[in-house]
Amino acid sequence: MAASKALMLAVGVVVVAGCAVGLSGATDHIVGANRGWNPNINYSSWSANQTFYAGDLISFRYQKGTHNVFKVNETGYDNCTMDGVTGNWTSGKDFIPLPRPGRYFFICGNGFCQSGMKVAITVGIFDLGPEIYPPPAPGADNPSTSASFTAGAWPAAAAVVTALGAAAILVI
Ligand SMILES: *[C@@H]1O[C@H](CO)[C@@H](O)[C@H](O)[C@H]1NC(C)=O
Ligand SMILES: *[C@@H]1O[C@H](CO)[C@@H](O)[C@H](O)[C@H]1NC(C)=O
Ligand SMILES: *[C@@H]1O[C@H](CO)[C@@H](O)[C@H](O)[C@H]1NC(C)=O
Ligand SMILES: *[C@@H]1O[C@H](CO)[C@@H](O)[C@H](O)[C@H]1NC(C)=O
Ligand SMILES: *[C@@H]1O[C@H](CO)[C@@H](O)[C@H](O)[C@H]1NC(C)=O
Repeated sequence: MAASKALMLAVGVVVVAGCAVGLSGATDHIVGANRGWNPNINYSSWSANQTFYAGDLISFRYQKGTHNVFKVNETGYDNCTMDGVTGNWTSGKDFIPLPRPGRYFFICGNGFCQSGMKVAITVGIFDLGPEIYPPPAPGADNPSTSASFTAGAWPAAAAVVTALGAAAILVI
């Protein structure tokens, strides 16, 4: 009896943890938004407007065969070279995971880096504090940010926890 209760509790904890992870949500940061990955776009402006957290994705949309994506280090980014290259993508719709906090540098390897096809981002540790209930930006309406998504998700997670708790009490 005690063992089965312990098992049920363990299952509940796993389910709750799974929901929390799923709901807190990895954001897919689409480089350049609807302008995609193309020459003559200021990607510093784009990245300045994004908040990246470990576990998010960055994705590049471009004409396959015309452009590509190389992950380089800061030297490669600054100078449009392959210095520190650790990956390359060519599908035209590349989803690249950002598993760890830190700086990431991506360039186009077909000569278009000189035309601005380079992006540097800073990925932060996921912060449960201010992201759960961000202060409303006065007058601003910013749809589909990671903050607003998370803000909606956590009350749902709390409801799931409450429902599971009630179910567990009924079963026991
Ligand atoms: C950030 O996004 C807002 C709204 O989408 C835009 O008005 C603003 O110019 C952007 N800032 C930068 C630095 O791109
Ligand atoms: C891109 O925009 C940033 C500000 O967001 C600015 O500092 C920088 O000079 C711009 N770069 C180019 C090449 O225009
Ligand atoms: C860019 O390349 C130059 C030489 O080509 C080098 O001196 C400089 O250190 C490089 N930039 C960075 C950030 O390393
Ligand atoms: C980038 O990688 C190159 C060699 O692959 C190395 O010489 C250079 O120091 C690295 N730059 C940084 C900023 O780590
Ligand atoms: C691109 O990535 C592939 C593996 O995915 C590798 O074999 C190839 O050497 C890479 N090319 C460069 C220039 O790094």
